[in-house]
Amino acid sequence: MAATKKTVLITGVTRGIGRALALELAKHGHLIIGCGRDKTNLDSLQLQLSNASPQNHLLFIADVKSDDSIRQMAHTVRDKLGSLDIIVNNAGVNTANLKFWEVPGEMFDNVIDINIKGAANVLRHFIPLMLPRNQGIIVNISSLYGRSVGPLASAYCASKWAIEGLSKSIAKKLPNGITIVALDPGIINTDMAVAYFGDLASQYQSPQEWALKATSMILNITTADNGATLIVPDPGDLPNLDTEKRPEVSNN
Ligand SMILES: NC(=O)c1ccc[n+]([C@@H]2O[C@H](COP(=O)([O-])OP(=O)(O)OC[C@H]3O[C@@H](n4cnc5c(N)ncnc54)[C@H](OP(=O)(O)O)[C@@H]3O)[C@@H](O)[C@H]2O)c1
Repeated sequence: MAATKKTVLITGVTRGIGRALALELAKHGHLIIGCGRDKTNLDSLQLQLSNASPQNHLLFIADVKSDDSIRQMAHTVRDKLGSLDIIVNNAGVNTANLKFWEVPGEMFDNVIDINIKGAANVLRHFIPLMLPRNQGIIVNISSLYGRSVGPLASAYCASKWAIEGLSKSIAKKLPNGITIVALDPGIINTDMAVAYFGDLASQYQSPQEWALKATSMILNITTADNGATLIVPDPGDLPNLDTEKRPEVSNN
């Protein structure tokens, strides 16, 4: 694992894999910049991070949907730290499990606004902090559903396929010291997994188990990975949800 201490931005650190990754990286002495919308969870994380390593970890109450909030966050980071080493675009949501035409427009838009436009807001304002040093790693959290599909997750699939395309497109013009990848984290027992898989979520790895593998993987990404689609080891197999046949409808 890379020995030097890194400054790592992770969006969506209040729960799930973002929080576990922040804590695991902090344990290894890395400085965390994080954001999320839930103040109570951010306050408890701030305490846990300080206990893990006594550094000035920077946590922001910020919604990635807001270009202004992310711009302000980037300005604060630039003023306090000058630059950063790693960006993990992790914040994400899914819709309820519904057929596409049953998903209310507002719910569809929310997934697109957070998963695609939110990630883009972060990239827009934080990549410029990496450019002067021509150094950095950018990890856009994708999904198995950014490379395959789930029938009741159309907005989510659309958003994660977009993340794959966005990552590959940006990779073409990043200077050669900066690397961007799309990373499928595998299946992890988080709030999002419970909402999607129900009770089956409990058979998957915990965020803490996942963070051990992901930390090592992310810290060892190199410029040779630029534009790659990566997957965290031992991702887990999808439960048998997607075998539902198309309904047969008679026209008579
Ligand atoms: N769990 C899995 O099996 C799995 C599989 C494939 C991909 N992923 C991806 O992994 C990422 C994390 O998922 P998870 O399973 O950890 O989900 P989770 O437990 O539901 O956590 C989602 C995190 O994103 C944050 N977030 C959501 N909307 C936000 C917004 N508008 N602004 C800022 N933060 C926001 C949440 O914080 P607040 O609510 O406090 O804002 C929370 O910290 C997502 O991109 C997801 O698509 C997960």
